[in-house]
Amino acid sequence: MKMWTRTALSAAAMMVAMPAMAQQPAQVSVAIDLNSPGAKIEPAIQGQFAEDLGRGLYDGIWVGPDSKIPNTNGYRSDVMAALDKLHIPVIRWPGGCFADQYDWRDGIGPREKRPVRINYTWGGVTYDNSFGTNEFMDYAERLGADAYVAGNMGSMAPRDMQQWIEYMTAGGKSTLAEERRANGRDKPWTNLKYFGVGNETWGCGGNMTAEHAANEHRRYATFVQRQSEGGPIVRVGSGANVDDYHWTEVFMRDAARTMDALSLHYYTFPGSWEHKGPATGFDKAAWASTLVHALHMDELVTKHSAIMDKYDPDKRVALYVDEWGTWYDQEPGSHPGFLYQQNSLRDAEVAALTLNIFHRHTDRVKLAAIAQMVNVLQAMILTRDDKMLLTPTYHVFDMYVPFQGATPYPATVEGPRYKQGEYDLPMVDVSAAKGADGKLYLSLVNLDPDRAARVTTGLGGTATGRILTGPAIDTHNTFDAPNTIHPVAYAGKNVGGKLVFDLPAKSVAVVAVTQ
Ligand code: AHR
Repeated sequence: MKMWTRTALSAAAMMVAMPAMAQQPAQVSVAIDLNSPGAKIEPAIQGQFAEDLGRGLYDGIWVGPDSKIPNTNGYRSDVMAALDKLHIPVIRWPGGCFADQYDWRDGIGPREKRPVRINYTWGGVTYDNSFGTNEFMDYAERLGADAYVAGNMGSMAPRDMQQWIEYMTAGGKSTLAEERRANGRDKPWTNLKYFGVGNETWGCGGNMTAEHAANEHRRYATFVQRQSEGGPIVRVGSGANVDDYHWTEVFMRDAARTMDALSLHYYTFPGSWEHKGPATGFDKAAWASTLVHALHMDELVTKHSAIMDKYDPDKRVALYVDEWGTWYDQEPGSHPGFLYQQNSLRDAEVAALTLNIFHRHTDRVKLAAIAQMVNVLQAMILTRDDKMLLTPTYHVFDMYVPFQGATPYPATVEGPRYKQGEYDLPMVDVSAAKGADGKLYLSLVNLDPDRAARVTTGLGGTATGRILTGPAIDTHNTFDAPNTIHPVAYAGKNVGGKLVFDLPAKSVAVVAVTQ
């Protein structure tokens, strides 16, 4: 994104000195280069992550067929209907850190016979394995999503990965295929598109060095089948934590041949790892700090991609940001190991800014998974008993559906910056792409919590869509008031042949342009 002009900066400085003028909308201009299309925005960048963690699976999507909560074969009907609207391209399961303690055999066969285990990774609570492979694969299939199954490299053998994949994908007469049939699934699932070779092997997945993990990857990946009836299976290497560029260097140098994608994990929080800050009731410094940290994703993707370019100039190996999102202090009163947090307008901004960053890196970023889908971290949906609410993050994903499979164009933004104490950010962020339906879509994000912007484009025609905003920086939905924040109709204006958008403070808009 282009930076700001000297004139605009001094105008912004004057406005700080003259509070009466601070009410004036900032003048922002956007130029969209329709002659320089980028690589397609893979739908999979809008992927979801559903770990066996807290109430993400149990309570969140699975209540079992005997529950009083309305369900379809055990899946919460309200949650399933809401997720349907997002056209979820891919779901990653069962972890996360949990993946490296999980034995897939625990989760198949008659539910009443499945073992009860302790979730050592998350809270030390027991789980009854009633949500296992068949339940996950059917759920993903029912939602029209591809499955991204994360294998256990930390505490099981390569043979277990091989057999798990065979159970899911074998069409013939193998004993594992017969076992799957006996468990109620005749045909193999054809939506197993991605298989993770371990998770965070630098930490919870085995505390390995990069060199050791890359070697282990080579060994395990050898036994990960690469083809199924559903097509190729992508072998995903367990990649770097945040800015561990050495990790990416070693994996690309030593293991690129045996992987089709390498992951990256990055979480956004305003404070420190020990004191991340609350999900609501925060101040403007925490708002700005969160957005600065969210924008850091651009630098991370740029630098990891540059290393990958060195070893893989043809970009055969993709970068999967398969864990991202906000991570705050858990909600007061919730289980410390459950990572349950509220979700506000601030999270909506993080979601939009992050997806926009991925739109600028489509050459390498082919999949991403927000953490996590229901009741955990930056969730789409929160549930309590039989109640459900859609979060501001859900609404952003809903508004962004037209970007799935779209062709992005560079957008150059000029205007003032949003400054808050030590934090200095662009005020407006824009992403533009031509959707699979042939329409041009714009996403417009105003990061400033106080100041509206008038965004002038070089485009003609009309533009209509939806906008998400709220009265406070932490506006959020609750179980008693679940519709406090939701998108409303929004349109641009044609002023003298140019499309202009009046963008309120702290807002996210997505519009379709008709030229
Ligand atoms: O998403 C929560 C946890 O964060 C995941 O289990 C782990 O991979 C990461 O550290």
